[in-house]
Amino acid sequence: MSPPSKGRMHLMTLSRKQIESYWLPFTANRDFKKKPRVITGASGHYYTTEDGRKIYDAFSGLWTSGVGHCHPKIVEAVQKQVAQLDYCMGFQATSDKAFQLAGSVCDMAPDGFDHCFFTNSGSEAVDSALKIALGYHRAIGDGHRTRLIGRERGYHGVNFGGISVGGMAPNRKAFSANLIPGVDHLRHTHSLEHNAFSKGQPRWGAHLADDLERLCALHDGGNIAAVIVEPVAGSTGILPPPIGYLERLREICDQHGILLIFDEVITAFGRIGSSFAAERFGVMPDIITTAKGLTNGVIPMGAVIVRDEIYEAYMQGPEQMIELFHGYTYSGHPVAAATGLAALDVYREEGSFEQSRQLEGLFEEALHSLADHKHVVDIRNFGLMGAIEMSPRPGAPGARGMEAHKTCFWEHDLVIRNGMDTLQFSPFLNSKPDDISKTFETVRRVLDDIA
Ligand SMILES: Cc1ncc(COP(=O)(O)O)c(C=O)c1O
Repeated sequence: MSPPSKGRMHLMTLSRKQIESYWLPFTANRDFKKKPRVITGASGHYYTTEDGRKIYDAFSGLWTSGVGHCHPKIVEAVQKQVAQLDYCMGFQATSDKAFQLAGSVCDMAPDGFDHCFFTNSGSEAVDSALKIALGYHRAIGDGHRTRLIGRERGYHGVNFGGISVGGMAPNRKAFSANLIPGVDHLRHTHSLEHNAFSKGQPRWGAHLADDLERLCALHDGGNIAAVIVEPVAGSTGILPPPIGYLERLREICDQHGILLIFDEVITAFGRIGSSFAAERFGVMPDIITTAKGLTNGVIPMGAVIVRDEIYEAYMQGPEQMIELFHGYTYSGHPVAAATGLAALDVYREEGSFEQSRQLEGLFEEALHSLADHKHVVDIRNFGLMGAIEMSPRPGAPGARGMEAHKTCFWEHDLVIRNGMDTLQFSPFLNSKPDDISKTFETVRRVLDDIA
């Protein structure tokens, strides 16, 4: 990390009109536009800002860029592919790269996950997975299974299916009358009383999976099509599954013939030291959604990976007929697929998932070193996912988190993320140990100065 650049002049080259023209996603636009945080370049573990600073990225993109930014092998693959085949239709034709990537993803996935459907994002992967689950039941003569179960505090993207099964209140509030029908939610697994400052999986909370039994009793398990959870909840501020929780969910799904979907948009491709969380936890879902690390964040792409039985259930009827009336203009885009192939090669060649696993202990220790801080009420982590939850400043929820984020960016050349007053960390899979330690030394200094 470079030394702090406090006081350096901000040389803004963008016009006010340009700044006002852009409506930023998940951003406090009016506040942001007073002093925009603008990134113009990246290399390895650093961004370059518009005012010429080199700043350390402690969030590795947005959980995306595990092996660093502008990795030369991935950049080369993109350049080569875009000059060779920039686009081809993906309906009733496709590129060689889409087939190759599907093969590589299924090779990396747990046994039995033999088919892969491509999307352009995690949100699209989730909505595709929900549709695939509903269509599967219909295909096997169980069309009455229409209910979907998500979990409170779950994040499954921003499309209507995703926010309906999702459980983050602000993402649902404005659309509550228009969410898809037939959805219910499990309780979330967070408890400050029982789980605060757990390291890794909390010991308390496996029984919360029995909430699914309650919903099966209420709706009749035979009417439920699928349950979707993040194996480790990410965007809500890192909630690792209590020990035994995922196993119990699997058991109840099996008892009632319900499909289990793991939303691995964050957890796949090394974030928790394995190719997929399913493998790390030894619990096999029926459908896996993924995105982010699939291409190291370089070109947008998501995927739904399904067990063989699910794909085979669709493969019936006249052969000239489309089996799944669903897809995107850019499904299996050749440049995205070539990027994914390069990313997966880099993960294998560099042993990225093993590197990530080796960093876990150090990351946990550095993260928990803030446990004694006056503002901190909880710290949670699993793999290379970590969160520091602060108490809100009385009367100003979210202010401490936002101040920490901005102070890190402007005064300490450090990118961290905050969700309200919870700071989130997603270090690179190949982070330098020293950079992880320095990140938390800096965060402590920043929190010391926050009222
Ligand atoms: C678990 C999970 N699902 C879905 C999504 C949505 O992905 P995207 O933003 O690519 O649509 C995210 C994004 O963070 C996520 O964390």
